[in-house]
Amino acid sequence: MYERREITTQERLEQQQFCERIRQRIAHRPHYALVDTYGCQQNESDSEILRGWLTQCGYLLTQEEDKADLVAVNTCAVREHAEKRVLGNVGALAHRKAKNPELLVCVGGCMTQQPSMREKIKNSYRVVDLVFGPHEVWQFPELLLKTMERQGRRGDKHRLIAAEPSQGVVAEGLPRERDSAVKAWLSIMNGCDNFCSYCIVPYVRGRERSRRPADILAEARGLVQAGYKDITLLGQNVNSYGKGLEEDVDFPDLLAELDKIPGDYVLRFMTSHPKDATDKLFQVMGRSEHCAHHIHLPLQSGSDRILKQMNRHYDRAGYLEKVAAARRAMPDLVLTTDIIVGFPGERREDFDETLSLVEQVGFDAMFTFIFSPRVGTPAASMPDPVTRGEKQVWFDALVDAANRISAEKHAAYVGQTCRVLVDGETGQSPYNLSCRTKGGRLVHLAADPSLVGRFMDVKITDSTTWALYGELA
Ligand code: SAH
Ligand code: SF4
Ligand code: F3S
Repeated sequence: MYERREITTQERLEQQQFCERIRQRIAHRPHYALVDTYGCQQNESDSEILRGWLTQCGYLLTQEEDKADLVAVNTCAVREHAEKRVLGNVGALAHRKAKNPELLVCVGGCMTQQPSMREKIKNSYRVVDLVFGPHEVWQFPELLLKTMERQGRRGDKHRLIAAEPSQGVVAEGLPRERDSAVKAWLSIMNGCDNFCSYCIVPYVRGRERSRRPADILAEARGLVQAGYKDITLLGQNVNSYGKGLEEDVDFPDLLAELDKIPGDYVLRFMTSHPKDATDKLFQVMGRSEHCAHHIHLPLQSGSDRILKQMNRHYDRAGYLEKVAAARRAMPDLVLTTDIIVGFPGERREDFDETLSLVEQVGFDAMFTFIFSPRVGTPAASMPDPVTRGEKQVWFDALVDAANRISAEKHAAYVGQTCRVLVDGETGQSPYNLSCRTKGGRLVHLAADPSLVGRFMDVKITDSTTWALYGELA
């Protein structure tokens, strides 16, 4: 059993004091910090906290690497490709450091939770000054100050490879610099207990722990009051929210409570594990005023044999039942999914089952991945006889099907008028604004930038595989 550990107010205040000491150290001239984020929304949310801390420490935030006195890289370990990109970019910082020896390089995020990766960074990426994991974001100021105090020592002595990877932390009240004034992440839980056989997340993010409902509601009220229009609840598996809390609350209960907050805003959430997506959830969504009629319901595979080996705890028929129930509760449901191609031992017959299920369900959008072995997960040591080339052929076939279905779904919007949230500027012409339908479909709009942050009725005039195009109705 893991230890749930709530950070105390005292501990938080101590971190504020570390911020103050850093502020004094860098007060002699403006210092700039850049936070580079990889991976999922959980990481984007953590990066907002890192930016919050850095701001409190007196740093100015920048996007320009040339200008930065501190670079924090928030890493992802979910697939090999992500890790390679991170290591390449971290290695390249050596050039920056040659020009500016005072540059501080901090590497955080999921990659650093793997002991072998900590060793690798320590031994082969000498440009890195500080390594910390997602469980240590709450104490970033303390780790940063220690790193600064060690700077200038000879040899390796200055490098702080942070404390033993910890677990089970729940921290409230941390500062946050949000990326957008319209859309907000709201993390409701952290970690994952599912141990899908291919997935590294449970190992790097630790056991599931939920924030208290009162804290989540208070944050949500604050967001609505501050004018946020689009709130996305985050968790690796939001459907198991509430496990281990003293309060008797599950995810649909939480959603129903959040929905009561008055205001004009949309509530979204991700991700839902199909095994825990219940009728109660679909009913609450269907009845709610604010909840988007969108579910991201990762399928992973359409083959019962492979689903079993993935340790997913549902089968093809069960998945289809969930989809039918969700569509009964929300006839206008937008459904998106994730699929892995080439899981060890997958055969052409298994892949064909995935393809047929994809056709049968008709997803609005799909995220497709080729299996990537992750050290320490059961799937990494399963026999995997299918060649990369063959997997690529299957993958291409799946992407073709996904694109065709998305294009068809999008074409059906043409001529309709949709209420959308104008959420940002694209920097392109003539479609200078990006918007989202309540179901989360991307709409490009040509209109006045002052509309950002407002809900508008838009007539859809055109569509592609990826997006809709419209004009003000
Ligand atoms: N908690 C979420 C997200 C997990 S990671 C969920 O359960 O859906 C996002 C997606 O990455 C997964 O849904 C899966 O499709 C993919 N993924 C995870 N591990 C992978 C691996 N080892 N190889 C390829 N894709 C993987
Ligand atoms: Fe990974 Fe499965 Fe947990 Fe999602 S539910 S994070 S795929 S172990
Ligand atoms: Fe990657 Fe960690 Fe998210 S491994 S997908 S950043 S939880």
